[in-house]
Amino acid sequence: MTRTPVNVTVTGAAGQIGYALLFRIASGQLLGADVPVRLRLLEIPQAVKAAEGTAMELEDAAFPLLSGIDIFDDAARAFDGANVALLVGARPRTKGMERGDLLEANGGIFKPQGEAINAGAADDIKVLVVGNPANTNALIAQQHAPDVPAARFTAMTRLDHNRALAQLSKKAGVSVSEIRKLTIWGNHSATQYPDIFRAEIAGKSAAETVNDQAWLEDDFIPTVAKRGAAIIEARGASSAASAASAAIDHVHTWVNGTAEGDWTSMAVVSDGSYGVPEGLISSFPVTTSGGEWSIVQGLEIDDFSRARIDASVGELAEERDAVRKLGLI
Ligand code: NAD
Ligand code: LMR
Repeated sequence: MTRTPVNVTVTGAAGQIGYALLFRIASGQLLGADVPVRLRLLEIPQAVKAAEGTAMELEDAAFPLLSGIDIFDDAARAFDGANVALLVGARPRTKGMERGDLLEANGGIFKPQGEAINAGAADDIKVLVVGNPANTNALIAQQHAPDVPAARFTAMTRLDHNRALAQLSKKAGVSVSEIRKLTIWGNHSATQYPDIFRAEIAGKSAAETVNDQAWLEDDFIPTVAKRGAAIIEARGASSAASAASAAIDHVHTWVNGTAEGDWTSMAVVSDGSYGVPEGLISSFPVTTSGGEWSIVQGLEIDDFSRARIDASVGELAEERDAVRKLGLI
């Protein structure tokens, strides 16, 4: 039986993340090797021609699962009927900027996109915000889509999660596949808290296995939290292929479920769990099943972790207040 294609809307399609992302979506890595997709690309008018070039290349790759590509410079049309929306289009920071510096520049993009999702997306819409500052941009879009369940708006901390997996695997001398239950808490910013106290390596406590508090505080946490800036410094441009890869992982896990005995990190609307104020879009340990996520409950939070979670969540509250002042929510 031929399946109906899933409509995947990607904003910023002509950008660097878009270029790495679209081919992986079209090849079946986002939703599954048996799920046909129809791409709906949104760009600003000046970049539509470049998006058309990427669409030509997608056509030339002859992906069996790609059932069509439409290109728009109008959000209302791009999100019409969308089942999955990847909100990538936004300005990246350059050397010396903090992600918070992008609040004003990028926040304005997400209000009309939230409204367009509210007006025309499919009933099962799932939204992933990648464009920075991702958590607060997701909050802006969510606030302008009152008819869509808030749980459908998420922001990406999977890149931070993957970075933390890679650093911990190097330190412990194990494969990333032996690490479970790692968590990124809070904001996708330098205040984020990559937490190994609840993580396991081959079934044992990761923190006890590593047993190196100086490495944790002076190396692991800052390396993961400042990796975005280190990539910008080295590449002269912000991370793109790894960000696209994390976006694929995020949606794939959301749709297809987390493995038994493991969880992932996603920035989702807080229900007040772990003292994170209700309504903020903050990263949590999350399991997924049947296309729905739930925050892992009942974890004991030690004082070291508590202080770091509170600092990052405090930054999210400040960002929310700043966009409120700007009239964006
Ligand atoms: P880029 O500049 O290469 O591409 C951005 C694209 O978005 C451009 O083609 C631009 O024309 C388009 N765009 C701008 N405004 C738009 C709008 N209103 N509608 C549709 N398209 C629009 O940037 P990039 O490297 O692809 O990065 C995109 C965003 O992702 C940046 O904000 C970057 O900071 C962020 N990012 C997030 C993560 C994460 O982990 N959450 C990781 C890497 C990058
Ligand atoms: C990243 O984490 O690589 C991105 O969010 C880009 C940035 O500005 O750090």
